[in-house]
Amino acid sequence: MIIVREVAQLRKVIAERRQLGVNGEKKVHDSASLLQHKVGFVPTMGYLHEGHASLMQKAREMADTVVLSIFVNPIQFGPTEDLDSYPRDEARDLEVARREGVDIVFLPTVAEMYPQPTQTKIHVSALTDRLCGASRPGHFDGVTTVVAKLFNMVGPDLAFFGMKDAQQVAVLQQMVTDLNMNVTLIPCPIVREADGLALSSRNVYLSAEQRKQALVLSQSLRKVQEVSEDIVQNTVTMEQIRQMVESTIASSPLADIDYIEILTFPGLEPLRPEQRLCDVQDDIIVALAVKFGNTRLIDNIRIQKVEVLSHV
Ligand code: PAF
Repeated sequence: MIIVREVAQLRKVIAERRQLGVNGEKKVHDSASLLQHKVGFVPTMGYLHEGHASLMQKAREMADTVVLSIFVNPIQFGPTEDLDSYPRDEARDLEVARREGVDIVFLPTVAEMYPQPTQTKIHVSALTDRLCGASRPGHFDGVTTVVAKLFNMVGPDLAFFGMKDAQQVAVLQQMVTDLNMNVTLIPCPIVREADGLALSSRNVYLSAEQRKQALVLSQSLRKVQEVSEDIVQNTVTMEQIRQMVESTIASSPLADIDYIEILTFPGLEPLRPEQRLCDVQDDIIVALAVKFGNTRLIDNIRIQKVEVLSHV
């Protein structure tokens, strides 16, 4: 596994890997083989957990070269957010990367990523004014800008993102489509602890009691899963789903609800309370953000029309 900290060095090692044939097995020099060699990219902010590991595994499965970036991106944090305390553990992250068969780890400093204050930001409109975008102004501009920069540095064919940040997936897909970026985004399923809590680097902030009560998030979404046949048969409204989720979360005295929203995915169009699944063409997601003390957790469930219909 190669560890690089500078952009120029990163470009050089990726160009060398592209000279290798599919699976990195033999040196080839014809342009068709160069094109066949797939670079898979997993951008992260480190403090890696099994959710990140699942992205690396998917990348390992689909790509010839796997590049992982670890960078806590300051421009996606608000002034009162947890940039300084965001958990970091480089040695452990490198062990995880090695275990998952990553080829190249990119570990830039802030000065390497932003040698001068950035004058250019990428702003995806509409999709970013809701959900986490409403609670965290400027957050998605920071995400899209750094991901665009990383795409320009790595030049990946495939890029892997977890569906826990469903809005991030929708926003990045919009950016890639709008700007004709030559990369395919691969959304990957949410990974949960055995008791249901969605994995997040921020889970370490939770006290034992907060951790216990935070299970109301996945419990509320499991209830949505349980009524998915009723949803698809249009016997429940969006408001009934929302109330079911809200009452489950409200059973935790420590839970402070930021939002519970039901939207189309990936368009993120909010649904009206009286609407039923038959009123929309797309999949829907039930998305939550809930604070426990200072820790804000997000989770969601996607109801895929086709998938549910095939089970009815
Ligand atoms: O999801 C994350 O960890 C970050 O938002 C990302 C995509 C690595 C950009 O900093």
